Order: sequence, then C-alpha cells, then structure tokens
Amino acid sequence: MSFPDGFLWGAGTSAYQIEGHHGRGESVWDEFCRRPGAIEGGGDGSRACDSYLRWREDIELIKELGLRAYRFSTGWSRVMPGGDRPDPKALDHYERFVDALLEAGVEPVLTLNHWDMPAGLTWAERSSVNAFRTYAEAVAGRLADRVTWWITQNEPWIIALLGYQLGLHAPGVADLGTAVKAGHHVLLGHGAAADVLHAHPGTKAGAALSLFPCDPATDSEEDRAAAIGSDGYVNRWYLDPLLGGSGYPADMREHWERALGHGLDFVHDGDEAAIGGRSDFLGINYYTRRVMAAAPPAPFPWKVVGPSGDVARTDEGWEINPGALRDLLIGLSRRFPGTPLMITENGGVFGDGPTHDGQIHDNRRIAYLRDHVEAVGAAIDAGADVRGYLHWSLMDNFEWALGYRPRFGLVHVDYASGARTVKDSGRYYARLIAGGGTAPALPRIEAFG
Ligand code: FCB
Repeated sequence: MSFPDGFLWGAGTSAYQIEGHHGRGESVWDEFCRRPGAIEGGGDGSRACDSYLRWREDIELIKELGLRAYRFSTGWSRVMPGGDRPDPKALDHYERFVDALLEAGVEPVLTLNHWDMPAGLTWAERSSVNAFRTYAEAVAGRLADRVTWWITQNEPWIIALLGYQLGLHAPGVADLGTAVKAGHHVLLGHGAAADVLHAHPGTKAGAALSLFPCDPATDSEEDRAAAIGSDGYVNRWYLDPLLGGSGYPADMREHWERALGHGLDFVHDGDEAAIGGRSDFLGINYYTRRVMAAAPPAPFPWKVVGPSGDVARTDEGWEINPGALRDLLIGLSRRFPGTPLMITENGGVFGDGPTHDGQIHDNRRIAYLRDHVEAVGAAIDAGADVRGYLHWSLMDNFEWALGYRPRFGLVHVDYASGARTVKDSGRYYARLIAGGGTAPALPRIEAFG
C-alpha cells in the first residue's frame, strides 16, 4: 500500500475566497476588486460562499467527505483589521472553527497569508515583514497549542508575479523591480513567521510554493537553456533560499541583476540566513507544467509555448499532466532529503453544473483526482516522503481575478442561494479516502427518462 497510516487526505480553501466580508477589515483585495475591469464579471469577496456564517455547514461537508485534514486560512485582514492590532472576536471565531475540526477528528492545516493582506500594507515595503510577524504572533498565541501544521506564505512566486509584476492581482502593481523586491519580503515573512511558530513546541512551519516543472519544447540547446532559466525564475528562486542552505541561486541572481540593471540592494546581509533552515516541510501547489522555448533576451530569454497538440486539458486550458507531479515529488525528495512534502493544492477547473437529476457529474474532475493521487502514490513508492494530499478546493469559490466563473470545488456552490451540493467527485474522493487511497469504481450515472 502506497499511502502510509496517518496520511493527510484533505482539501483546501482560503479566507478571502470563501468567507465573505462580515465585519473584517479592509483588505488589499477589496481595494483591487473595485478597480474597473480587474475582476472577470466584476465580482468580489464581499459574500463569496458566506463561510464566515455557514462554517458549521462546511464542517458537516468535511465530515461527509471523510476528510482527514482541512486547509484553510485565517483572514489576515479579519484578524488584524487595521493592520497592527488583533481583533479578539476574529481569533474567537477561528478558535471555535479549529476546535470543531479537531472534535470531528480533522487535522487543521492553517495558512497565515493566503493573499488577503490588510489594506495599507504592501510587500513592496520591508515593513510588511514586521506586520506579518505581529499577525503570526497573534494567531500562534491563540492556536499554536492545537494546530500542528502551519503554512506561512501561499505561493510567493504568484504573489510577486501577479500582484507586483503583471498587476493582475492585488495590489495591482506592474513593475519588475518591485516584484523581485516584494518576493524577497514574502520570503523574509516566511522566516519571521516560522521563528514565531517555533517558539511553540510541536508546530510545523512551511511555505506553500506554486511549483511548475519546466520542460524544453525541443531538444535544442537553446530550448533546454530556456527550461533551466524558467525553472530558476519560477521554482529555484524560492526553493533554494528556503531549503537549499546557501541562499538565492547564483545564476538567477545574475539574471535579475542583468534584467533590472542594478544589484539586489534590498537583499541585506543576513537575510538569506533568516529565510533558510526554518522549514519543517514543503507545501507544493501543483496544477500543470510549463513547456519552454528560447526567446529574445529582454527581460526573460525564454517563453512559455506549450504543450502543443491534443493533450488533456481542464476547462481553463491547462494541460493535465499527473506524471509531471510524480517526477516533481521524486526530484524534490532527492534534492532536499529530510524535508517532508505535502501537496497543499492540486485540482482543476471543470465547469460542470447540476444536470437533469440535480446532481453534478464532474467525471473529468474524478479522473483528474484519481490520476494525480496515483501519481503521488507512485512517488511515495519511489521513496518520496509525502505526508498529505489536499485537493483544491473543498468548494467552488471566488477565483481571484477570474471571479466566480472557474469552478474548482468537490462541492458545488450555488452563489445566489449559497446552497452546497456535493459533486460526484466529492463522493468519489470520500470512497477513495475510506479505501486508503485505492481508486474506487467509477460512479454509475442513470440516463435521463
Ligand atoms: C492557487 C491559489 C488558490 C487558487 C488556486 C486555483 O494559485 O493558491 O487560492 O486560486 O490557485
């Protein structure tokens, strides 16, 4: 059997994407959503899935699916409404929530920063690191006696890329130099929060990285170099300082200095030592891979070109490639022996809605789930130390700049009424979990009439 006892079978969500406003402080995402055209369909997180009010119902769903673990985030802008002082009511809420999970036998996996930073703060400023430390102290002070697994930062690369380089996410900045600096502050924030957590015995701290394996489009030397460069930009720039023991990778440091035309003066002496050596595990968010080709040098001598052809894709057009997850896990376990791995996100957009029988027959999500779980099992068989698999997402929710269109959930949400309906994939996952990871038979769908 591939999956060890105690393997954390679960699913994830984040505060801004599901909770709704309900008295939290203003977040950078509230501001960003007000920008005309920023959000597809014009939505925001003011209501979302109303989980701040309907959390007991969500816990019933978690139980119904038989999840052993649940990843959620504490809303940074809820806990620290003005950015600097905790709101005890918010902490009371999360304490009740965690206690209810524990009572249901579900392991909480708590994310501190899933992007809903209080308005007025920005990762472009180094002072964000202190603000994040203060927030981590407030949450850890209340919950570290009962939460073991803590994710400090969610997807540092995506924060830097979409939030500060391309301006497609909050805070909507589009400046390459600011993006590299912001990414550094996010990593410093990981170090600061991990130190806060480690003052509480028994906690495990890790960042969740969005890892995209990078493959060359052809065997040419140029395309192979492009894949190595892309891997440096997306993956190694974060993996190496967190886990590698000697700070940022030299090739990428040179790349940034060339691309920006100046040195990385925001990386102070001692910073890399304050980022590394503090991870008790690595969280991996895996969705797809990048197929790369060489391109004219400025600012990146590579571009994403593929995959081309008739590959399986989600409704968002992303290639479905479970084999790349297996190889990624095996590669990471060889590169960073002794660092446990956890799949903190994996899933796909499949737009299936209710059919004639009121049910959601999301067969493609079932196949996606089955094949990625199998890939994780194969990696474990090959020696990778993987502790859990947390599917993204427990339920359909606010998908950032894409609004409410993309549906990632194991549970369907009718946004008009807030009603939740377990999809076929949710029921399938429940049976898979009950069987210790063995793929169950596919569900029978009765024809209409
Ligand atoms: C990740 C985010 C998560 C969700 C999924 C689809 O980048 O961490 O909140 O948006 O993608």
